[in-house]
Amino acid sequence: MSDLLVKNAGLVGGGTSDILIKNGVIADVGPKIDGVAIDFPVIDAKGYLVTAPFVDSHFHLDATLSYGLPRVNQSGTLLEGIKLWGELKPHLTLDALVERALTLCRWSIARGTLAIRSHVDISHPSLLAAEAMLDVKRQMAPYIDFQLVAFPQDGLLRADSMDNLMRALDLGVDVVGGIPHFERTMEDGARSVAMLCEVAADRGLLVDMHCDESDDPMSRNVESLAKETTRLGMQGRVAGSHLTSMHSMDNYYVSKLLPLMREAELSVIANPLINITLQGRHETYPKRRGMTRVPEQIAAGLTVAFGHDCVMDPWYPLGSHDMLEVASMGLHVAQMTGIEQMHHCFDAVTYNPAKILHLPDYGLHKGCNGDLVILQANDVVDALRLKPARLAVVRRGKVISTTPAVKYDLTLDGQQVQTDLTSTDLVWR
Ligand code: FE2
Repeated sequence: MSDLLVKNAGLVGGGTSDILIKNGVIADVGPKIDGVAIDFPVIDAKGYLVTAPFVDSHFHLDATLSYGLPRVNQSGTLLEGIKLWGELKPHLTLDALVERALTLCRWSIARGTLAIRSHVDISHPSLLAAEAMLDVKRQMAPYIDFQLVAFPQDGLLRADSMDNLMRALDLGVDVVGGIPHFERTMEDGARSVAMLCEVAADRGLLVDMHCDESDDPMSRNVESLAKETTRLGMQGRVAGSHLTSMHSMDNYYVSKLLPLMREAELSVIANPLINITLQGRHETYPKRRGMTRVPEQIAAGLTVAFGHDCVMDPWYPLGSHDMLEVASMGLHVAQMTGIEQMHHCFDAVTYNPAKILHLPDYGLHKGCNGDLVILQANDVVDALRLKPARLAVVRRGKVISTTPAVKYDLTLDGQQVQTDLTSTDLVWR
């Protein structure tokens, strides 16, 4: 737990402020903090944007960085990705799982992401992936807040995974997962939702299910998820991840569904990079985008977050675990180019996922954890547009990652000109 003073921090809502961190906790936020005996580090943010750390509410840490093992996904579909992952599973080792995950964690920290909810495949009775990810969670605890989700990748009923799931929870996995659209029938999907929500209610755990990750408009498991959440009194404790079938559903049905989701205080986690890559693969033209109805869900009062989902794995060959890349893609796919909408997209990788994860003491207010990221950006729009350098990443008052500011030196007609691509030079400012 360290002390730190950040001067001239650009704020998301505009203006600048100083931020004082004492013993790892934000002790004061004000226009100019003085009168403090300073015998600890001081950073001048020079008006650059300072944000609470990025939060990834949907990731697969056990599969990450396995791209090409044992082969590449040829069709690019979700279903071939699941098949490919199944081919890889018998060859996984604890050491390799941990090593790949720790590499990803280093990338995350460099990108300013200090909280991750990761689904962990518990389909195999060995629970090898759960054991490995619990080890990674322990090792990275000083730097990253992890939540692990017990995820029955091959289907709770289809692969008879309930015993594995319960044992994973006993080992310390935090959240109950599910994949109802991968069960054999809609009836089994609904039954799996009910069974899993009851487990979570009994144990006082949060729920986060892969739900309706499909282009099939009749994939309506989210309806069951909302119903079970309300029936069991778990409002505000359940998230539906993906919900891509909502993109293809009939508008009239959605007009009934959104109030049901609101009644259940269901949270939504879209995964823009992966949804735009995997959905619509069975189509010629026109092609559906496939991402869930983010603007309409926000308008209905739901909490919506964007997750990264995958980095270099059987489902997605790209990525560097940059939540600003995720927010930017979400903005584009959902056509959320209004100023307020762009701020919603930034919130979808910061405050909204923090709320969904029930992260304590998250934010830049007095009393919050002394965690923050200084971006080489003047405001939120700059951050989304540039996905800029994370000049400093601070955890509990200690700088744990730095990146030099990027400057471009141009020679034009014999003249030296410098730019950093930020909006500082714009005439209207
Ligand atoms: Fe996922």
